[in-house]
Amino acid sequence: MRLKGEIALVTGGASGFGEGIARKFVEEGARVVLMDRDGPKLRAVAESLGEAAAPLEADVTQARGFLEAVALAQARFGGLSILVNNAGIGHAPRPMESLEEAEFDRIMAVNVRAVYLSARAAVPVFKAQGSGAILNIASTGGVSPRPNLTWYNASKGWMISATQAMAVELAPFGVRVNALNPVAGETPLLKTFMGEDTPEIRAKFLASIPIGRFSTPQDMGAAAAFLCSQEASMITGVALNVDGGRCI
Ligand SMILES: NC(=O)c1ccc[n+]([C@@H]2O[C@H](COP(=O)([O-])OP(=O)(O)OC[C@H]3O[C@@H](n4cnc5c(N)ncnc54)[C@H](O)[C@@H]3O)[C@@H](O)[C@H]2O)c1
Repeated sequence: MRLKGEIALVTGGASGFGEGIARKFVEEGARVVLMDRDGPKLRAVAESLGEAAAPLEADVTQARGFLEAVALAQARFGGLSILVNNAGIGHAPRPMESLEEAEFDRIMAVNVRAVYLSARAAVPVFKAQGSGAILNIASTGGVSPRPNLTWYNASKGWMISATQAMAVELAPFGVRVNALNPVAGETPLLKTFMGEDTPEIRAKFLASIPIGRFSTPQDMGAAAAFLCSQEASMITGVALNVDGGRCI
């Protein structure tokens, strides 16, 4: 029960890593607002978590969704102490010059703009209470990029810089800001990065991960629970690789 009494907002909580983080948070005693644009999956995950979870169907690229999410956390659970910016999208591997403008803009809106919008909604609450923890789900691609995912990788590099800049600015207010860098993980998004889900392509990805397996929602839940708990009260501004050694 390392998160007993904590109230978290987890974006992209209807699937993959966000679902894993929300499940672990609830196991550790937190209550969670799950914000996602996928209504049916969102409601199914929230129902399976029971009273400790409140779903909000909303788009992270719009300020209104975050204002509603913070208000929901306050009305339903009495406050907000943790923000997890997890919702993210990728693109199929392709040469940098061939990504359409609309797809580039969408990636920047979900992976970059949403971090700014969530800060606008949550930071005033955290500053007023003199405490809070923010966790940004970045990627190993943000520190050790590979070819053909350039704009996705760059969006995650931005997220890591934002994590450090936010951490240094918010430290005097009692607010910690950290990031996780997952390696390729067993979630619905994996197929996007692989281009095609074949045994050969899986083997190629696995060959770059010394521990020899993909990351999982449970791995992210465990790392997120630690970084957002009081056990990590001296840790801020880190981007923790959860990558089975891929970035060595
Ligand atoms: N799976 C991987 O291999 C991998 C590796 C490194 C980093 N990541 C990062 O981890 C995070 C979670 O990814 P995942 O693999 O769990 O993906 P996923 O596709 O399983 O889940 C992402 C969730 O975000 C939601 N979402 C997307 N756009 C949204 C929007 N505009 N508004 C609200 N919700 C939105 C989706 O509906 C979905 O439920 C992402 O930021 C991703 O970039 C994933």
